[in-house]
Amino acid sequence: MSRTLIVANWKMHLNTSQASLLLHRLHERIKIHRNIEVVLAPSMLVLQPLSMQIDRRKFRLAAQNAYHKDEGAFTGEVSFTMLQDLVHYVIVGHSERRLYFHETDEIVRDKVTAAVRNNITPIICVGETQQERRAGETRQVLHDQVVSALANLTSQDVENVVIAYEPIWAISTFGGELAKPDDVKKALDFIRLQVSSLYGKKVAERIRVLYGGSVDDHIVSGYLAVEGCDGVLVGSASLNYHKFSGIVDAAYRLRHQEDDEDGNK
Ligand code: 13P
Repeated sequence: MSRTLIVANWKMHLNTSQASLLLHRLHERIKIHRNIEVVLAPSMLVLQPLSMQIDRRKFRLAAQNAYHKDEGAFTGEVSFTMLQDLVHYVIVGHSERRLYFHETDEIVRDKVTAAVRNNITPIICVGETQQERRAGETRQVLHDQVVSALANLTSQDVENVVIAYEPIWAISTFGGELAKPDDVKKALDFIRLQVSSLYGKKVAERIRVLYGGSVDDHIVSGYLAVEGCDGVLVGSASLNYHKFSGIVDAAYRLRHQEDDEDGNK
């Protein structure tokens, strides 16, 4: 079984000293667990100083975005190549980037390709808007986003990427309605089915799929317990050390339970 992945997306919050303080508090609260991987995605500016402070046995770093060209005259951009030694992951195609910065499926595909080319694992965000959901287009949207994002990758590459299902209507930025774990299960199953039909069953079993709608320490277990859910991509709750360490604790408890059950079989 793969490690549960808990990703803190700090979005455009926390300057260097605020981020450093939060990391310090998280470090005190979060224990090392062989089955849990905790990833922090601070702003671009904070990545470098945080990388000096971080205990690599406990945390990994992710960027929230990068540009798909490796280098050149692209004022204001940072490439995946530049991030190579700094981060394990890059979040690609987050709904805020798709909606506010007009990132199309093609741009997301180019970024996923660039991430893999530079040995960085992309966390690819997919998900439908409220309007698409109401029109019954969820599957079509997920299909198109998944197929396009993975288009330039080999099956071996696909095995190692992470897909985050973010129903846009269930993100606090866009309304934050609570998704039902049953609906999340259907979407995660559908994403795996797409991967299976394109790259085979083995790849679909290995790929990690996260839930990326709003969660906090109280409700996260409901999503983590969904079969096929390999973790969560957390927004606002990740800015609060109490809530975020509570989320990691919830993941610990579930994995311990599973380990115990496996041990008793
Ligand atoms: P919230 O947890 O703030 O709703 O955001 C979720 C999200 O966008 C994760 O990337």
